[in-house]
Amino acid sequence: MTRTAIYPGSFDPMTMGHLNIVKRSLEVFDQVIVSVLRHPEKQAMFTVEERVAMMREILAGEARVEIESFDGLLVDYVRRRGSHTVIRGLRAVQDFEYEFQMTMMNRRLAPDIDTVFMMTDEEYFYIASRTVKEVAALGGDISGLVPEVVAREMRTKC
Ligand SMILES: Nc1ncnc2c1ncn2[C@@H]1O[C@H](COP(=O)(O)OP(=O)(O)OP(=O)(O)O)[C@@H](O)[C@H]1O
Ligand SMILES: [Mg+2]
Repeated sequence: MTRTAIYPGSFDPMTMGHLNIVKRSLEVFDQVIVSVLRHPEKQAMFTVEERVAMMREILAGEARVEIESFDGLLVDYVRRRGSHTVIRGLRAVQDFEYEFQMTMMNRRLAPDIDTVFMMTDEEYFYIASRTVKEVAALGGDISGLVPEVVAREMRTKC
């Protein structure tokens, strides 16, 4: 039996925090599918295709990781992929309320699907895509906050 978990998010772009969650998840699950949500109204720095391409480059050495995009209800997508598990990362308390609401709603929609929370490393717990983008836009140094592939692509955008 292969245990496959889905790690959904915007990943605009992937940070060291996200990467840490993927690596931790590989210790627990046989296969991890990192899935970029197509979110029409959210204005983004990178297109979904660019985000997927960067993450494929970052995780090229991980045979047990797959990267793709999805739209529609998360629970429908998880079922389509034959999985029963969603992975979410937790930083500090600010993530808790939103994640709690989403988990309960997903559980109501799909009682057979569970959400597993992974706690990030302490060195990454303050990192969010939004804040990394803000720092980069203002000319700050983002090395160490995002994988090198992402830092390179962000420099071309700012
Ligand atoms: N530094 C981090 N450590 C642990 N989990 C994280 C970290 N950053 C994001 N996550 C988690 O990864 C998942 C996907 O998050 P998302 O794509 O919203 O990233 P984000 O960094 O929060 O971006 P944004 O600032 O755009 O909201 C969520 O479960 C989120 O809590
Ligand atoms: Mg977020």
